[in-house]
Amino acid sequence: MSDELNLTKGGAPHQEPKGKDDILTTAQGAPVADNQNWLSAGPRGPQLLEDHVAREKIFHFDHERIPERVVHARGYGIHGTFELKKAIPEYSHAAIFNNVGEKTPTFTRFSTVAGNKGSPDLARDVRGFATKFYTKEGNWDLVGNNIPVFFIQDAIKFPDLIHAAKPAPDRGFPQAQTAHDNFWDFISLSPESMHMVMWIMSDRTIPRSFRFMEGFGVHTFRLINAKGEAKFVKFHWKPKQGLQSVIWNEALKINGMDPDFHRRDMWDSIEAGDFPQWDLGIQVFDEEFAESFEFDVLDATKIIPEEQVPVEIIGTLTLDANVDNFFAETEQVAFCTQNIVPGMDFSEDPLLQGRNFSYLDTQLKRLGGPNFTHIPINAPKCPVHNFQQDGHMAMTNPKGRANYEPNSWSGDMDDNREPRGPRASAEHGFTSYEAPVTGPKVRVRSETFADHYSQARQFYISQTAIEQTHMGNALVFELSKVERMDIRKRMVSHLRHIDDGLAKVVADGIGLTEMPEKITAARKPIDDL
Ligand code: HEM
Repeated sequence: MSDELNLTKGGAPHQEPKGKDDILTTAQGAPVADNQNWLSAGPRGPQLLEDHVAREKIFHFDHERIPERVVHARGYGIHGTFELKKAIPEYSHAAIFNNVGEKTPTFTRFSTVAGNKGSPDLARDVRGFATKFYTKEGNWDLVGNNIPVFFIQDAIKFPDLIHAAKPAPDRGFPQAQTAHDNFWDFISLSPESMHMVMWIMSDRTIPRSFRFMEGFGVHTFRLINAKGEAKFVKFHWKPKQGLQSVIWNEALKINGMDPDFHRRDMWDSIEAGDFPQWDLGIQVFDEEFAESFEFDVLDATKIIPEEQVPVEIIGTLTLDANVDNFFAETEQVAFCTQNIVPGMDFSEDPLLQGRNFSYLDTQLKRLGGPNFTHIPINAPKCPVHNFQQDGHMAMTNPKGRANYEPNSWSGDMDDNREPRGPRASAEHGFTSYEAPVTGPKVRVRSETFADHYSQARQFYISQTAIEQTHMGNALVFELSKVERMDIRKRMVSHLRHIDDGLAKVVADGIGLTEMPEKITAARKPIDDL
């Protein structure tokens, strides 16, 4: 039977016609005689519960939906290949980084963050750029965005950020005055978000298409070489197509005409054989640089300027195949920041550490149990051997060998004892970098995370005059939708730390009669702000 199954590119069973005489069957494979009339007691009588064919059909339909992602619900996935152009054994012993010319299969999902699954593509929002690399040593997920920094420094604030941005729980839509009040209230009480705010108010935010945007791993990670030496790294995706955006007026019109504009653009260009490409770049630096850098490299609200640490291009991603099955592949793919392979490691970035918990946890619920790595789009393309078994939807279980350890079964298949099962390998397995960790248990963020304005200012002044005008317009448009004057003022008093000219444009645009004072002591407790 299994050799008759058609598999999608994501490997999921796929129902395709075998011929014009295919007979309709139930999910159990039993032929169906009538797909239009429910069994009833007489032609005008009530329908009978006995009709197992109709009940199975309705039962399955009733369960077609799974929860949409709690964030990044609207997304679009494409298969591709990553080709290594430059080996980096001095930085990492990961196989994916060591054989020039080697092609690693990938799956990339682009997304917006705040909108639901049916929201329009050209929202003023961050874009997700998540890539799963099916490497020979397991799956590596680079789960990034098209903006190199994030709103917050600590994952404990993420639920509040998202609650403030998504639809209010009473009315269920985000475009109300209150939703803008909520978002800007949260932002203006979270000064660490000012750098990211500059980006999302800029022209960079609304790409013309997914093909014309950058991607960033955002956090600092570690690369580990064969000697066990570590370097810090930031990952960058550089689109070979170049960078192109639309402005807000264009976005509004496109959203009205074609809310699927970005996904249609991607589908069409792949079908036309016009395959988009991105170079993968790395910024590598050591502890010494991290110590001397004016910001904390563990702070996800900061970039490391490319003038200080140039981006080295090491490979190219080519997206070349649309999915066969949107649900099986794009909807069921599960990216997770904790999916790394030997030769790399996390850093102590507090946002990254929180994400490592969150993704696995949410996917347990979204995909209905602990076995979502058995779904073909999530399954590694290298051998998998472990002692995990059972659970909802288990497709594979240990067979013909021990399913626990330690065990004293033989490793030798020729003697009469069962094989012992897999063993951990200090030589090949993942080892955590032995980063020294000390200190009391506290809930205080290091002062090295405290400068919230310098990079926001640098970003603003790096923009051209017309881009700066667009940013001012965007802030005026957004803050005009905030009803509470104290929130509007609080935002302007942050902007005064970034650029007084911008603050003035915004203050005038939203009708403030007096310029508010610069906000003081950005790290003071919330009540003092
Ligand atoms: C989903 C990026 C911060 C929780 C995603 C996705 C991306 C992403 C690209 C969509 C993945 C897909 O296409 O399926 C980022 C970036 C962050 C960030 C770049 C900051 C640097 C956070 C934080 C949390 C979080 C701090 C929670 C503490 C989630 C959750 C999902 C998600 C729960 C849904 C995952 C799923 O249902 O499969 N994120 N995120 N993210 N993110 Fe984040």
